[in-house]
Amino acid sequence: MDDDALREGLDRAAAWIREYFAHPEAYRVMPAVAPGQIAAALPDSAPEEGVSLDAIFADFERIVVPGTTHWNHPRFFAYFATSSAPAAIVAEALAATLDVKAMLWRTSPAATELEEVMMRWLGRLLDLQPHWTGVIYDTASIAGFTALAAAREALGLQIRERGMSGRDLPALRIYITSETHSHVEKAAIALGVGQENVVRVPCDDAYRMRPDLLRAAIEADEGAGMRPLAVVATVGTTSTTSVDPVAEIAEVTREKRVWLHVDAAYAGSAALIPEFRWMLDGTELADSLVLNPHKWMFVPMDLSVLFLKDESIVRRAFSLVPEYLTTPESGAVNYMDYGLQLGRRFRALKLWFVLRHFGAEGIREHLRRHIALAQEFASWVEAELGWEVLAPYPLSVVCFRYGPPGSSEAQRDALNAEILRAVNATGEVFLSHTKIDGRYAIRLAIGNLRTQKSDVQHAWRLLRQEALRAGKVQ
Ligand SMILES: Cc1ncc(COP(=O)(O)O)c(C=O)c1O
Repeated sequence: MDDDALREGLDRAAAWIREYFAHPEAYRVMPAVAPGQIAAALPDSAPEEGVSLDAIFADFERIVVPGTTHWNHPRFFAYFATSSAPAAIVAEALAATLDVKAMLWRTSPAATELEEVMMRWLGRLLDLQPHWTGVIYDTASIAGFTALAAAREALGLQIRERGMSGRDLPALRIYITSETHSHVEKAAIALGVGQENVVRVPCDDAYRMRPDLLRAAIEADEGAGMRPLAVVATVGTTSTTSVDPVAEIAEVTREKRVWLHVDAAYAGSAALIPEFRWMLDGTELADSLVLNPHKWMFVPMDLSVLFLKDESIVRRAFSLVPEYLTTPESGAVNYMDYGLQLGRRFRALKLWFVLRHFGAEGIREHLRRHIALAQEFASWVEAELGWEVLAPYPLSVVCFRYGPPGSSEAQRDALNAEILRAVNATGEVFLSHTKIDGRYAIRLAIGNLRTQKSDVQHAWRLLRQEALRAGKVQ
C-alpha cells in the first residue's frame, strides 16, 4: 500500500467513525440477523489476489456493521454497558502502527515503562497500598487465573516443578459465592483444582458473602484434611453489583493464611470517586485485586489490571527464560515473566490517552452521571404499579421485573422473558437478564459515555409498553 492509499484509508475510517458516533439512531442496537447469516455472506476461502481497501471497506459497511451488536450505542444497557473514548480509539491506531511485542523491556522500553507508570497512577487514584504493583492483562478472567496460579504457587507445594498428578496432595479449595463470576470456576478447571473443590459460601439477603460461614467452611475443610487455596471476594457482582464485605473476609483469610483475591472488574472504577472508595475498604489486607478499565473507564476492549501485594509470587509461578530471550539489562521489568503470554500488546498506551484526555475528574463526572441515571431509573420502577426492583442497586445497574398482582412466580418469569425479548426485538435498546433467588430479572446497566436521560426514558417507555402487551396476551 502506498502513502496515498494509507491516507485515503485513514481518512475514510476517520469519517466513518465520526458519523458512527454522531448518528447512533442509524443502527439497531442488536442486529436482526440469524446465526450463520454473516458467515454465509462471506466467501468460503481467502482471496488469492489482493483487493483495494475501498472494496474491503465497502464490505465492512455492507456485512460487518449491520451484523454487529453495537456496544457503543447509547441505548446499549445489557451486561455491563461500556464505551470507547475517542482518545483511546486514536491510541489503538497508534499501538497497531507501532505493533510492538512488549514481552521484554528491550522489545519496547516505552511500552514497559508506560505500563509501570500507568499502574502507579491508577494505584494512586484508587488509593491502593503504595507498595502494591499492577500488571496489565487482556481480561479479568486471565488476570483472575493468574492471581489464583500465584496463590497455588504461594502454598509451597512444588506444583510448578512436580505437577499435581501421581503424588499425594490434599484437595485444594477455592471459596466463592453463588454470585461470583464464572471465570473463577474456569480457573479452577485449568489449574487442576477441579470444579468440585470450588466451595460456594452462602450469602446474606443482599447477596454478599457471609464471613462467618466462610470461616466455618474453611475450618470444616481443614478438619477434613483439605488445603484452602484462595478466597475470591467480589466488589460489584455480575448479576446485582453487590459488594462482599472485604474487610471482614480479610480478617478470616489473614487468620487462616489464605490468599484473598478481590474481583472488582466492574465496580473497581467507582472507587475513583471519593464517596465510593469505601467499596475497596479491606483490600489493603488482600493479596490481589482486579479491575477492568475496559468495563467502566472508557478504555476499549481489552485492558484489565491486576494489582498485587507481592508481584514476585507471580514471577515465581510463571517466569521461564529460554536462551533466545535472555537480556543484558538487569533490573528492568520483562512483562513476559508475569503470565502465560509471551508477546503482549501495547495496552498501556490507550490507558495513558484516556487518563490524560479526561483527567481523573472527567472520568469521575461520567461515573457519577451513570450512577445518578441508574438511581433515577430505579425510582421510576419503584413508583410504578406492578413493577418491582429485585436487588439493591448501589451503582449503575438495576435488576427489576414486572409482576402484576395475582401472578405466580412461574408466570412472572415467563412474562419478563417475553418483555425482554420484545423490547430487544425493537432494535431500539438492548438489555439483558439474570436470575436472582431463582426469579427472572431484567437488568438495565448504564456505562456508556453517550447515554443520556432521554435514552433511559426511551427504554422505560418500551418496557412498560411491552409489559402491557405481553400482560394482555398471557
Ligand atoms: C465481576 C466480574 N468479574 C470478571 C468478569 C470477566 O471479565 P472479562 O471479560 O474481562 O474476563 C466479569 C465480566 O462481566 C465480571 O462481571
